[in-house]
Amino acid sequence: MNKTKTLVLVAHPHLADGSRVNARWARELQKHPESIEVRDLAAEIAANDGIIDADAWHAVLDSYDTIVFQFPVYWYSCPPVLRAWEDEVYTFGWSHGGERVLPGEPGRKMAGKKIAYAVSAGDAEEHYDEAGPVGFGVAQVLAPFHATANYLDATYVEKPWTLFGAEAGLSDEELDRNAEGYAEWVLSL
Ligand SMILES: Cc1cc2nc3c(=O)[nH]c(=O)nc-3n(C[C@H](O)[C@H](O)[C@H](O)COP(=O)(O)O)c2cc1C
Repeated sequence: MNKTKTLVLVAHPHLADGSRVNARWARELQKHPESIEVRDLAAEIAANDGIIDADAWHAVLDSYDTIVFQFPVYWYSCPPVLRAWEDEVYTFGWSHGGERVLPGEPGRKMAGKKIAYAVSAGDAEEHYDEAGPVGFGVAQVLAPFHATANYLDATYVEKPWTLFGAEAGLSDEELDRNAEGYAEWVLSL
């Protein structure tokens, strides 16, 4: 029923009270309620007494064919709320396991969905390189998410949306431009 809309799951521990980049991104996406549904994972889980309700999230995911995971890079990975969400929501018999069946059939519910990533990073773009201080590009940092998409038989969008240098003098104008580009990118998925 929502299949023409894109679901954006934001994983930030302080989206409403501390985030600058991810909050700005979310506000830009919320200008397109007819095409984009934005959900704040940490806030929704906190409102549910800290419980990640797998059945409820399965029902949400069932309604979308395109899903964007948006988060700030924390220790070259995602904030822990997203890892916890994956552990609870990707369950045996729903997303994987049992006999491999056709995409969309029981047990392979993420199969065939398009999955994309949007990440903000404090460090500079040129540092995210094999020859730079990080030692890895952003595609390599996101490798566990790419592998997870492969495991789920989902279609991984190879190029993430990014904003680097989130803490190094990023102007409001630069952030606005990036946020506007981000919304266009989500709409084009
Ligand atoms: C706990 C923590 C870990 C972080 N780890 C990284 C990191 O590994 N690499 C990086 O480039 N930035 C790192 N940062 C910086 C964040 O990615 C940056 O502050 C964030 O993307 C800005 O987005 P926001 O304004 O929505 O919080 C870290 C920040 C925090 C709080």
